[in-house]
Amino acid sequence: MGKIVIAIDGYSGCGKSSTAKAVAKELGYTYIDSGAMYRAATLHFLDNYLAPSNPQDVSKGLKSLEIEFHPNPDTGKQETYLNGVNVESKIRSMRVSEKVSEIAKIKEIRKELVAQQQRLGKSKGVVMDGRDIGSVVFPDAELKIFMTADLETRAYRRQQEMLEKGDMIDLDDIQQNLAERDRIDSSRSESPLIQVEDAIEIDTSNLSFVEQVAQIVYLAKQKINPR
Ligand code: DC
Repeated sequence: MGKIVIAIDGYSGCGKSSTAKAVAKELGYTYIDSGAMYRAATLHFLDNYLAPSNPQDVSKGLKSLEIEFHPNPDTGKQETYLNGVNVESKIRSMRVSEKVSEIAKIKEIRKELVAQQQRLGKSKGVVMDGRDIGSVVFPDAELKIFMTADLETRAYRRQQEMLEKGDMIDLDDIQQNLAERDRIDSSRSESPLIQVEDAIEIDTSNLSFVEQVAQIVYLAKQKINPR
């Protein structure tokens, strides 16, 4: 088999993006962070005072929304651009995290972003992480992973990640935000977060980063070169 699509879904903060990124690097694949697209859309709505509950605002927001990924010339890491501006750091702020699930509930917004994600992955050789990748964006993905980890572990890891960037956020606030996003993401009517039947579950609570990457790379290689 040639190149495949790897879909990684799961709850907020269980290390999907860092894992997906490392898996893509090891396989020479492209990593696509679908959550960054919902985050960029959220920033766009916030900055332009557009209400996701108002259909007119939604169509106005979507008309002027252009999201791209470009590698950072120094680090080589993919960064998110909104209408030509690098927003990689802004989209990770609590201001965006607190509103993103509201934006991700809206059918028209999902339709537009899903279409963009499908275009980005049409030549295969991609690892995409999110909430609906195996269920909606690429239901035929050759490898589907559903990542989980207990809430305390996820909150602690997210806090460490933010500390590395110089942001001191209270553990309880992070835990509350993760729990609230899980609740909204799993109960919304549009493409809720679900574990599809053909997804392989990986609970990372007691796995090291290296172990979780190795497990997925192993599974991917079995699909790429079946014996
Ligand atoms: O992966 P993340 O935490 O950066 O995603 C931010 C939010 O975007 C998350 O709370 C739910 C939403 N999301 C989604 O609904 N569908 C996706 N494919 C990816 C993210």
